[in-house]
Amino acid sequence: MQKVYGVIGSPVRHSMSPAMHNDAFEHLGIPARYNAFHVEPKDLREAVLGMKALGIAGFNVTIPHKVAVMEYLDEIDAAALDIGAVNTVVNVDGRLIGFNTDGLGYLMSLKTAVKKPLAESAILMVGAGGAARGIFFTLLKESPRRLDICNRTLERAEKLILPDEKKVSKAITLGEAEKNLGVYDIIINTTSIGMSPKMDEIPLNLENLRQGAVVSDIIYNPLETRFLKEAALKGAATLNGVGMFVYQGALAFEKWTGKKPDIKRMETIVYNHLGGTQC
Ligand code: ATR
Repeated sequence: MQKVYGVIGSPVRHSMSPAMHNDAFEHLGIPARYNAFHVEPKDLREAVLGMKALGIAGFNVTIPHKVAVMEYLDEIDAAALDIGAVNTVVNVDGRLIGFNTDGLGYLMSLKTAVKKPLAESAILMVGAGGAARGIFFTLLKESPRRLDICNRTLERAEKLILPDEKKVSKAITLGEAEKNLGVYDIIINTTSIGMSPKMDEIPLNLENLRQGAVVSDIIYNPLETRFLKEAALKGAATLNGVGMFVYQGALAFEKWTGKKPDIKRMETIVYNHLGGTQC
């Protein structure tokens, strides 16, 4: 019987996940279908119970349900518990198990762009919201030389950093980050600044950017944010959010099917959808 997968979110109409996963199922000859399900927050519990009752084989969870979904699952994997959010659910014999592939997806994408080992790198993250959490906890496991967080609201960045992590990680203001930008090898924007329709905004002034730095944005619409444009003008290597999106999807696909999808095909689908060309 054909298995059914999907994504729950609100809004979810423009999600690129159905096109990406359905192509991978077809390409690998797996009899399965992936659909987008619009679910309002008030209906989340019923939606998750419905997924279980209908025997949906697995699903992704997107904004705004990544945290709220956790209380309706039967089990949550340790990394997702650390991160405090779930983006992938696997139905194992009627038990719904939650995972988070966002952080690892980001890491896999980052590794395609950086040459220096992460253990020798000083990293600066901009933003301390939901998207920052998965990336922060995943990067920490790579034992970077530094992993600092700057945020408009300093206390939010301070809260993210546990006491044990204070040797490698410090919460700093946006102003401090701009002043000391030259110490960082990798700079990551995890905020929504620069995302369509607020495309003129920039999360951080890049004047003091070091030569040879890698500047990364988790935003993929537009493909090149103003942040990345300015970084490229200063000679930095840049990385947009397509890779993170593709790898988080590929990791979810592997958890559901045990098979590795073709990353290049997934990337091409996303670039075609966004009307850009692949770098
Ligand atoms: P998400 O789940 O997408 O990360 P979020 O939890 O609301 O969304 O976090 C958004 C992040 O973008 C936060 O770090 C936020 O800073 P604050 O903690 O100070 O709110 C940051 N952010 C959003 N708009 C911003 C702006 N105009 N200037 C500076 N930071 C902004």
